[in-house]
Amino acid sequence: MGLFKAKIAELIKEKLPPASPGLDPDEVALGDLLEAPPDPAYGDMAFPTFSLARTFRRAPAKIAADLAAEINRARPDWLEKVEALNGYVNFTLNKPLAARSVLTAIKSEGRRYGSSGAGQGRKVVIDFSSPNIAKPFAVNLLRTTVLGQALSRLYAFQGYEVVRVNHLGDWGTQNGQWIVGYRLWGDEAALAANPIKELLRLYIRFHEEAEKHPELEDQAREAFHLLEQGDPEALALWKRFRHLSIEEFKRVYARMGIEFDSYAGEAFYSDKMEPVIRLLQEKGMLVESEGATVAPLDEYNLPPCLILKSDGSTLYPTRDLAAALYRWEQYQPALVLYVVDVRQSLHFQQIFTVLKKAGMSWVDRYEHIAYGLIKFQDMIMSTRKGAIVFLEDVLDEAANRSLEIIKERNPDLPDKEKVAEQVGIGAIIFRFLIYSRLKEISFDWQTALSFDGDTGPYVQYTYARLCSILRKAGTEGVDVEKIGEDPSCLCFEKLSAPEEAALIFELERFPDVLIQCEAGRDPVALARYLLELCRVFNGYYHQHRVMGSDAMAERLFLLAGVRTVLQNGLYLLGMSAPEEM
Ligand code: ARG
Repeated sequence: MGLFKAKIAELIKEKLPPASPGLDPDEVALGDLLEAPPDPAYGDMAFPTFSLARTFRRAPAKIAADLAAEINRARPDWLEKVEALNGYVNFTLNKPLAARSVLTAIKSEGRRYGSSGAGQGRKVVIDFSSPNIAKPFAVNLLRTTVLGQALSRLYAFQGYEVVRVNHLGDWGTQNGQWIVGYRLWGDEAALAANPIKELLRLYIRFHEEAEKHPELEDQAREAFHLLEQGDPEALALWKRFRHLSIEEFKRVYARMGIEFDSYAGEAFYSDKMEPVIRLLQEKGMLVESEGATVAPLDEYNLPPCLILKSDGSTLYPTRDLAAALYRWEQYQPALVLYVVDVRQSLHFQQIFTVLKKAGMSWVDRYEHIAYGLIKFQDMIMSTRKGAIVFLEDVLDEAANRSLEIIKERNPDLPDKEKVAEQVGIGAIIFRFLIYSRLKEISFDWQTALSFDGDTGPYVQYTYARLCSILRKAGTEGVDVEKIGEDPSCLCFEKLSAPEEAALIFELERFPDVLIQCEAGRDPVALARYLLELCRVFNGYYHQHRVMGSDAMAERLFLLAGVRTVLQNGLYLLGMSAPEEM
């Protein structure tokens, strides 16, 4: 929780009348009740008492008046004013003290500022990206990849031990297609020279030919069946394709700063399904249905979960059941997040319900983190016909386009290519995170790459601008890093402009924003917050001179605080923070 919110909540708890039966102030999340007043003239934070009226059997106005009076009897110095109004208690902070506590906290915590530490000693497993290797690594995977990465960083920042899992789709009939394609049309030299291109060619060819010759699909099924039986030749081919695909993914992930702790995908569970199936059997949860084995879930109003096909082979859900059990046994996680598109909601509902019904209460810690689809405005999105947009091509395009923009705006910038890569990829990431995860996004280059508007480049640009201001102060003889080392050398009364108070409040609320992201399993609040922080900062900087002003040291200290928070925020979203652009 933000510094002031926590302090005010504590104070309220202390000063509320003795707990009447049924009211335990520890249980009322007082901090959550605090709101921003509609008009800053009322104060900086407001405490509504309406929800307490019943427990105290008193009118809100009376509760508020008594509480304000009680606090005012010995008002702490960090509060300038406490007033009751219309059932609210309004709190006005002592601005210099507020500035001092926020800015010195940022100074001392630095890259840790904003962390709640609440995840200490707890594990969270995050299953994200998880492509199907039998398909080209296409652009529609971007959203899970970006969301999963941001969530991973966020949870790690809050102190959790994060296990990043790439649950590869590397098992199932589709994996027989490559084997068939390779045997019919494979070109060994091409595979060695440019594996991705060759795999794509085989993929396209397979689907073209299968339209005319549906028996190819049977052959693929047969090939997969052999694979499942452990046929050495099929296995060797599959291993090779899998390896080549993972190499390709890793290259893309590296460009996005992503590393997985585990690539245990569906194949990993191919020999681990037995115990789950047996368990469901023992619990009497399985029935035959048209030759297949299913787990009916009628009492939960869900369609039955498919467990075995009529030929006895396992399915995607079977492997997810085994994976869920494995994750529990392996990690004892406090939380497991599956970042997978919303079309798989039913699948996860079924998986979780089957496990719950089988008595595994730990499955309450498992959550499907669904997200909406992306519509790419200026990209062709046809699949099997070869007009595939590779994820990597999108990253290249983003980098190229931002390089053009940078060349135009800042021709003298050193390391243009590197910055262009950081800005281009940052633009894409931000574009995906600025919407609530369930919302559909329509993606176009113009909007994503703009340096103005609500974009990643705008936030990165503001960060670079701050870095440049602080660098410049350095060249003018100010040792910026030293400022605030001894806060008593600073006069926080000088940070008295309303724009300064607003900026300090923005900085103060950063930890709360992260808690909000954690609670909603969605980085969107952070993306929006960073835009707001940039706006407030740019507005302030437009109106107030820093260098050469008589509040120079204090203002530079404030700017350094904004820089740190932007840096932390960009990092948490999975974006780079170039110092010049
Ligand atoms: N490979 C799947 C797909 O592309 C996503 C896997 C998600 N994770 C899971 N445990 N089911 O649709």
